[in-house]
Amino acid sequence: MVKISIVYDSNFKGQTAALAECVAEGARTVEGAEVHVLHVDDVDDNWSTLHTSDALIFGSPTYIGSVSGKFKLFAEKLAGEVWLKRMWKNKFAAGFTVSAGQSGDKMNCLTQMIVFASQMAMIWVPQHALGGKYSTAGSDKDINRLAGYLGAMAQANIDEPADIAPPESDRETARMHGRHVTQVAAQFIVGQTTLPFQEETPFDAEGEGRPLTLPELSG
Ligand SMILES: Cc1cc2nc3c(=O)[nH]c(=O)nc-3n(C[C@H](O)[C@H](O)[C@H](O)COP(=O)(O)O)c2cc1C
Repeated sequence: MVKISIVYDSNFKGQTAALAECVAEGARTVEGAEVHVLHVDDVDDNWSTLHTSDALIFGSPTYIGSVSGKFKLFAEKLAGEVWLKRMWKNKFAAGFTVSAGQSGDKMNCLTQMIVFASQMAMIWVPQHALGGKYSTAGSDKDINRLAGYLGAMAQANIDEPADIAPPESDRETARMHGRHVTQVAAQFIVGQTTLPFQEETPFDAEGEGRPLTLPELSG
């Protein structure tokens, strides 16, 4: 059994939400996977799900070349107890983003997620599928057509609804990303059982609720 949570924001047209569902579809193809999909608005009712997940896959639209404001607020909730107690240490992390532009400065959005995951001592899983559309033989139907590797990148036209934008190639890239992250996490769990970390006792996340914030901890 491997537990995956997809935590995403999506405010404009639901295009990142559509991609989150694709990531979940891919994750669910791994035998024994338990997959949760959470909008950042719903995180406060689901902390124990996040604390007990083996992998967290972050999703945010790229807004002004950055993660969205709501996603950043979610990240800042972890700056207290989760950070201080290393509660999410050795959980896997991965990311995906959608923007209207082909670039749209999506890379900055994913880079912010990597910094966030690293601060939480998580293990980042890159987007593994080889980039497409590198030559005249390529097309927008290629898997990983935007040739991004930090995470799954998608592009959605600003005048199209979320059921058709981003296009199927980006959706399939997201499914592959979700499946890959889930497989890596599942392998790690088996490895940990065989060869546990010796230097410390892992944080017991069972029963944990809302993490204390930095202001609460610092008095
Ligand atoms: C406030 C705001 C800022 C945006 N900034 C960018 C940007 O920097 N680059 C870009 O290519 N698209 C930008 N977009 C377009 C969104 O990234 C794009 O429409 C995305 O698919 C929206 O995802 P959502 O429907 O999940 O919110 C922006 C949209 C909004 C509403």
